[in-house]
Amino acid sequence: MRSFLYFSTLLGTVAAAGCPYMSGQLRARGEDLGKRQSAASIEGTTISTQDFLAPFELNDTNVYMTTDSGTPIDDAVSLKAGIRGPTLLEDFIFRQKLQRFDHERIPERVVHARGAGAYGVFESYGNFSNITAASFLSEAGKQTPMFTRMSTVIGERGSTDSARDVHGLATRFYTDEGNFDIVGINVPIFFINDAILFPDLIHALKPQPNDQIPQAATAHDTAYDFFSQETSALNLVMMVMAGYGIPRSYRHMDGWGVHTYRLVTNEGATKFVKWSWKSLQGKASFLWEEAQAVGGKNSDFHRQDIWNAIEAGIYPQWELGVQIFDEDQQLAFGFDVLDDTKFIPEEVVPVTPLGVMTLNANPQNYFAETEQIGFQPGHVVRGIDFSDDPVLQGRLYSYLDTQLNRYGGPNFEQAPINRPRVPIHNNNRDGKAQAYIPTNIAAYSPNTLNFGSPMEANQTTGNGFFTAPRYVSGELTRELSPTFADHWSQPRLVWNSLSPAEQQIAVNALRFETSHIVSTTIKQNFINQLNLIDNGLALRVAQVLVDVTVPPPDTTYYNDNTTAYISIFSNPLPTIQGLNFGILASIYSNQSMSQAATLSQQFRDLGLFVSVVAETLVPGVNVTYSAADAIDFDGLLVTPGSESIFINGTSPLYPLGRPIQIVQNAYDYGKPVGALGSASTVFQAANILEGPGVYLSNSTTTLLADFEAGLKTFKFLERFPLDPGY
Ligand code: HEM
Repeated sequence: MRSFLYFSTLLGTVAAAGCPYMSGQLRARGEDLGKRQSAASIEGTTISTQDFLAPFELNDTNVYMTTDSGTPIDDAVSLKAGIRGPTLLEDFIFRQKLQRFDHERIPERVVHARGAGAYGVFESYGNFSNITAASFLSEAGKQTPMFTRMSTVIGERGSTDSARDVHGLATRFYTDEGNFDIVGINVPIFFINDAILFPDLIHALKPQPNDQIPQAATAHDTAYDFFSQETSALNLVMMVMAGYGIPRSYRHMDGWGVHTYRLVTNEGATKFVKWSWKSLQGKASFLWEEAQAVGGKNSDFHRQDIWNAIEAGIYPQWELGVQIFDEDQQLAFGFDVLDDTKFIPEEVVPVTPLGVMTLNANPQNYFAETEQIGFQPGHVVRGIDFSDDPVLQGRLYSYLDTQLNRYGGPNFEQAPINRPRVPIHNNNRDGKAQAYIPTNIAAYSPNTLNFGSPMEANQTTGNGFFTAPRYVSGELTRELSPTFADHWSQPRLVWNSLSPAEQQIAVNALRFETSHIVSTTIKQNFINQLNLIDNGLALRVAQVLVDVTVPPPDTTYYNDNTTAYISIFSNPLPTIQGLNFGILASIYSNQSMSQAATLSQQFRDLGLFVSVVAETLVPGVNVTYSAADAIDFDGLLVTPGSESIFINGTSPLYPLGRPIQIVQNAYDYGKPVGALGSASTVFQAANILEGPGVYLSNSTTTLLADFEAGLKTFKFLERFPLDPGY
């Protein structure tokens, strides 16, 4: 059964902030969220998720099997002519069962095929009617049901979660004036700035067409051929390499609408905006060695992480915000705001917080809910409008078109996950699998037979969507605006904004990627592009590609600009709630097991998911050494009394050396690691010296405090060498 209880502890400490764009009364962020019992208390006319979905739910408990047409049946054995004879065509039970199975698959999404989703609720911080007529932002505390799907882009439906890739964060608001989708990603920019290039981009990034290798990876010739020719992609490539491509979890990434949209008031006044979702869990990323291990050991890592967190009541939250600016500022920031390969640094236009999304219920059926949801940038409501961004314009066509293909007909908006929570009235009719029974015989407008209904709603009548005035003129042309032409100044800004350790992460990532390129020409072309961003970057990447030459520095686009937003690893996490913690023990030591029991409770009290690891699953142990791996934990602690299994200990109960390997790998993945009392000898055996994020102490209190701080730091990058001179 779904739980739609609201959860407020993560928000409890977030302070309210004044907002120049908000009219009406401010509500403290998250205030009262925990007091509501369920989404059924949502104000306005929107029905709650629970009530809305209930009539569609099938409960198979304590009932007889039936056909699709409702006849009770026995479908365990087929009908045959004689006990050993052939199955009969007459057997409608057999035919229906096989036929339904044969048709279970629909095409996976052409991109973003791999993902996970969850239900939630959005709560507005205030009345923002002075910037938008959107009803879900019309009053402090107003709640709107949501569904959110997170994804990777390139991998197929069965690919690994931890692939290095851009990640989708697609959000649907079931508002009381219809569905509104922000179909965003975890970086503020896109690869290309003309939608006509999207098929080229995806063809280049997907597995190569001859051998279908590599799956869910850009480390191959066609991808870098494209990046070095369509250089608008460089900005995004830099961010993906700097850690954005391998988030620790869906919960630890931000989201961006990327394009410039317009907010429109009831009176038709407009502002340009960029949408953003800030994770209240903070931003955190894997290291690449770790992401690869995750991919091999648990390809469901991200979907499991968010599922477990929601089941445990640790509801992830994101704050919705907008960067707001006037339409006459289109070219005021040194680039064109219609070019979606550029972001506006938050120092230039700060993010105005609008409300908070809390994901609080898992789906009950992956296919019916997560697979069938059809997000569209074109799902907008009154108060929200588009800009002339050429990629946004292309997306307005593509999503509807692809969904017609995925569902095989136009009535997919009638699936429960896609239906708006408000009644629909229009003259669209028929098509495959029509689920409604339209009773109006006058399926046209204007009509008199139905007294002109459904009537046209617009700005002044019926509270309808309306397109705000926007002046457009120009000669037909197949050209890109010259204001889109600078592809290098912002990647340089990204590079400048990374800490030295993060620059090394980006260099190492690019070394990994480019060493998979076979063509020397492509390698050379890509190094030439890096040189336009930074000569040192080009030199460092080229160091491992001996067949390329780094040109002399080309300073045309070099600049010293920085922005604080880009760095992932420099900012401690605001909370450690819902991180994973391992306590390594041995069932052959009473001291170890009793310490493990005490410690696991103390670490659970910090809000962590704690697993005690030992040889077998005796009471008090959650996972065996044969199943556990360093990837399972964001930090770990070794208990005293267990030392012998780490030092010279072999056992048929786990692979050779596994216990010490877990400690060594955790250290190598930059995680906080520690030992209580005599267990510090394990660290000597593992050749791990005391240093940042290594906690050896006789005091549990000290260790708890150390780990609380260490898990917030999340990664101890000082463990890893920098290229000499950097
Ligand atoms: C020319 C540009 C683009 C085109 C033609 C395009 C096309 C598509 C298509 C066909 C899908 C599959 C949709 C479905 O099957 O339901 C998709 C999914 C998606 N796209 Fe795009 N896309 C473009 C750019 C972008 C950009 C700029 C973003 C982010 C701002 C983005 C974010 C997403 C996300 C998050 C999904 C997955 C939605 C889900 O979870 O169902 N796309 N895109």
